[in-house]
Parts: sequence; C-alpha cells; structure tokens
Amino acid sequence: MRSFLNRSCFFLLLLIPVQGLLSQNLINTLTVRNGELLDGEWKIIVDPYENGYFNYRWQPFDAENHPSRSAYFMDSKANSPSDLIEYSFDSSKSLMVPGDWNTQMPQLYYYEGTVWYRKTFDFLQKDNERAFLYFGAVNYKAEVYLNGQKLGTHVGGFTPFYFEITGIANAGSNSLVVKVDNKRLREGVPTLNTDWWNYGGITRSVKLVTTPMSFIEDFQIKLESASTKDISGAIQYSPEFPDEEVFVQIPELKIKLKLKTDDNGLASFKIASKQLELWSPENPKRYQVTLSCRGDILTDSIGFRTIRTEGKQVLLNDKPIFLKGICIHEEYAIDGGGRVKNASQSELLLKWAKELGCNFVRLAHYPHNRDIILLAEKMGILVWAEVPVYWTIDWTNEATYLNAENQFTEIISRDKNRASVIIWSLANETPVSEARNIFLGKLAKHVRSLDNTRLLSAAMEKHDKPENRNISVVQDPLADIVDLVSFNQYTGWYGSTPERCAEISWEIPYNKPVFISEFGGSAKQGMHGDKNQRFTEEYQEYLFEETLKMIDKIDGVCGLSPWILVDFRSPRRVLPGIQDDFNRKGLISSEGNKKKAFYVLKKYYEAKSK
Ligand code: GCU
Repeated sequence: MRSFLNRSCFFLLLLIPVQGLLSQNLINTLTVRNGELLDGEWKIIVDPYENGYFNYRWQPFDAENHPSRSAYFMDSKANSPSDLIEYSFDSSKSLMVPGDWNTQMPQLYYYEGTVWYRKTFDFLQKDNERAFLYFGAVNYKAEVYLNGQKLGTHVGGFTPFYFEITGIANAGSNSLVVKVDNKRLREGVPTLNTDWWNYGGITRSVKLVTTPMSFIEDFQIKLESASTKDISGAIQYSPEFPDEEVFVQIPELKIKLKLKTDDNGLASFKIASKQLELWSPENPKRYQVTLSCRGDILTDSIGFRTIRTEGKQVLLNDKPIFLKGICIHEEYAIDGGGRVKNASQSELLLKWAKELGCNFVRLAHYPHNRDIILLAEKMGILVWAEVPVYWTIDWTNEATYLNAENQFTEIISRDKNRASVIIWSLANETPVSEARNIFLGKLAKHVRSLDNTRLLSAAMEKHDKPENRNISVVQDPLADIVDLVSFNQYTGWYGSTPERCAEISWEIPYNKPVFISEFGGSAKQGMHGDKNQRFTEEYQEYLFEETLKMIDKIDGVCGLSPWILVDFRSPRRVLPGIQDDFNRKGLISSEGNKKKAFYVLKKYYEAKSK
C-alpha cells in the first residue's frame, strides 16, 4: 500500500483489522449520497382487510402460484387486472411523505393495519449507473413494488433500508407502490404493549440514488486515541475491484492519502495528526473528509472523539464528563403532534434540550431520524440511541431476536461515523428471566462485534429490598455485560409521593458508572395547586427537587436523563381533561409551553457546570 502525505502530519501507516460492520455487505454510503427526494404527496388506499395482498382464500398474491397481482393492485398505471378495478390510486386521496398517517387524517388517528402508498416518478437510467430506492424508515412492515415487480420486504419501524432498481426502473414513468402495515405483533420489536403512539406510515424521506457502476459502498473513519490523536479508517469499494487507488483527504488537517484496495476492495489506514481538534460538547469541531475512487467522490463531516469508562467515570477524550441529559421521543409537540417530519422540528427539540443545559439526550425508545443525530453532532450534544427491545419481548422467538439484531445492524451502519452517538442501548425495562438474559447477551455480542468504539447500556429496573423497603437495589445480570449501569426509577410518582425520596438509600453493587435513565411525574401545563396535588405543575416541580436531592446521594452517578422533554401521545394515557391521549411527564407541554419543573432541572444542570 503506497501513500504520500503532506509533511505537516506525522504518520504511521499500518494495516488495521476492519471491524465487523464493513463486512455486512450493506451499501451504507447511500445514506450520505444525495439523491432525488420522492417526498411530498403520495396517493394512498386504506386496506384494512389487505385485499391487495391476499385473495379471497387468504392466499398471498405474491406467492409463486399467484402472479404478483398485488403489485398491480390499485395501480391503474400498471394495467390492473379487471377484478381489481374498484381500487384506483388515481382517484384516491393523498398523504404526505414523510409523515405518519395518524395525524394527517382523522379517520386514521387510531388506525393499525395496511395503507397502500403510490408514487409515480420519471427516471432516466444512464448506462454506466446503478440505481437504488432508499427509505429513511417505514413503520412497521413495508412490502415494496416497482412497476408491478416486488423489490422486497422490510420489517422494523425506525431504521433505513434500500432496494436496488438497476434495470427494473423504466426509462420514463415509474410506479412505486409500498404496502405499509403498522399492526403491532406479539413477536414484533417492539411487541404489543408500549407507552407511545403507534404512528404508522412512510415516516421518513424516500430518495432515488444513483451511483457509478462501481463505487465506495461503505466507510468508517474514527479517532483511535485522544492522546496520540491517531485517526483510523476503512473504505470498502465495490468488492470486485481489487488494487484500486483510493484517496482520503482531510484538507483542514493537510491530510491527503493515496491507498490501494486489497483483494476484497477494502482499503484502510491509520495516521496521527497533532493539529487535530477533538470533538466535544464545548467544541463540536467537525472536519470535512473526502473519499474518492475511480471517479466516485463522497464527502462527510466527521467529529473525532473517544468515549470509554474507567471505574465509575465516563471519559470523553480521556476526561471525566457528567451527562446532563433528558429523554426525548421522536414526536413533534406543536401543530397537532405526530412523528417528527423534518430537520427543523428536530432542531427545536434539541434547542429546548440546550436551553435546559443538556449536553446529552436519550433518544427513546427506538432509533430516531438521521437529522437529529447530525444536529446533535453540530450542536455538541451526546446521544444515547436504542432499539425498541421494550418491556415484554417474545424472548424465545428466533425471528424476534433476528429482527432486533437487524435493527442494530441497520442503525449502527447508518450512524457509525457520528461523533454524537456514544451509547447503544439494548433494552428498556425488560423483566429479568433466563430467556431474556440469553437474548440480550447475544444481542450485546452482536452490537460489540459491529462497534466496539461506543458504550453499551440498557435501561434496567430497580427493586426494593424485601427486608428493608427503604433500600432500593439495582441488581441485574445485564449489569455484568453493559458498560453503564443505567436504570429507570419513579420514586415519588408510581406508588409513592415525593417525600419518599428522602427515605431511600441505594445499593448498586458494580464498579461501573451509574446512570439514571428515567425519573419523573406527570403535570398538566397550566394546572396549579398544592405541591401534594398530583398532575399539578407544583407536584412535578416538588418531585424533581426531591429526586435530584436523592440522586446526589448515590455513589458513582455519571449522569441522568429525566423522563421527558415534551409531553407525547400514548394510548395508555386517557384521563380526560388531564391526559387526553398524552403522557404528561414532559417538562414542556404538547403546545410547547414550559412547566415549573423545567426550571428546577435547568438550575440543577447550571450548578453541575460550575
Ligand atoms: C417507563 C417507560 C416509558 C414510559 C414511562 C412512564 O419507564 O420506559 O416508556 O413512558 O415509564 O411511565 O411514563
């Protein structure tokens, strides 16, 4: 491997083992490549009995003994067979993509089932190009067809996926049909029961991406050491092109590398640059990195930092950091709510977090959109990301495990180069059992095999000592596996009042950092009364004051992320006049108004910063 470097960098070129991620044969650079957005109005047909997918004998049209008529279903542009003419996209209503259907059509507020989407688009495929359809996320199951041909299926409501359409797309008009089914499933991830609204739809952008016939399929570039400032990288070019020249440029560091791909199309490097400014919340410095090979050119903006633990401390760039966090659901508070639809909505959520004094957000309980991850990187906010292995998952079901595993593969592939993401969370409040320990043990191994540069955690539960209920204990087999011992606790809300906090002491028998991943209580914004009256702002304020005093007495606390920044919709929260389908534990109301407890936490974080 030959290379040349500008004299200003000290370098040490070594072949480095490439982590498992680049070997997943996923074309991850579609995430960073521009493309033609297919967002906007899509025609839709609501299909609660899935007539477009099953015949009257409940046999799937997709099965080999039935031509893929479902792809023609409701798609007059594809010359539908006669018995399906009752369904015509052309004369149907539309929904906006990205967006959930629940908040776009009153009839779909509670809807759980199938909605067919159709988008027509013109495309001119050039000879020396490949073409892909890239979906940011579809909740929950997507069956995708192009011009009547099934491209494939994706399961999982919060991670990106793509299908290649080279040679399938027509030169000229194309008809893209997506069957979206958001039914909750016992074997799903998440499973049947959650405390958030099951927003269905094509909830993130769809883009048409073209690439050269051979191209950079994946890359990972990261900081190896905060002291030596070694940068390492691996670039995966189309595997059938060995011995190709790959260029890596970081102009601001005067780095320009010429590498060679090996027999598998992979090139890697390791260099040190004394000039490097480390990324941190105080200085979210990012560098433009340009990769090129045989005319394919990619750029990304990368922040270089390290994260690790040492005893009970979390070290960012080898320095202890206290994580001043808040939990966030991917829900936009104002204008009727619903799934976050664009970057400006994500930015408002992070601005509120910044106003609170946060340097950290727990993005609950599923992978959020890429915009918020990029914005967090730009604004200097660290991120806890998680896959919705939530509550009572079907632990013994192999398909359920593979689903959870795949969701991690997809989200780690998407965000592996993002400095903001520092924690992967395996689970939330999952009851301890042998099957659950086996499932999460395997999942932990999978996550670490893909990415051993970030911390592993999970929101565990506490229990009270039977012989002394004034002692709360965090003891869970999962705590032996993870890097951060995180747990949710609601002393002062569920089953007790805020005075209880002063009576509690804690036993957390691990020499690891301790993180409180949830606490809080509900308050209807604008409802005022005595501090002992539930659902008043004063109660929530008092609860935060008492809880923070209790937390300050716990040994080894490295941070906290109270539940939650903003009120959010949940079918479990129905109390008329108070909840009205919203979980009111937000520090900000669903109309965007701050509650008194917001200022308690803000003051606490201000004191932490001194
Ligand atoms: C749980 C759970 C959250 C839920 C919260 C609550 O800890 O993790 O998803 O919304 O408590 O009860 O409000």
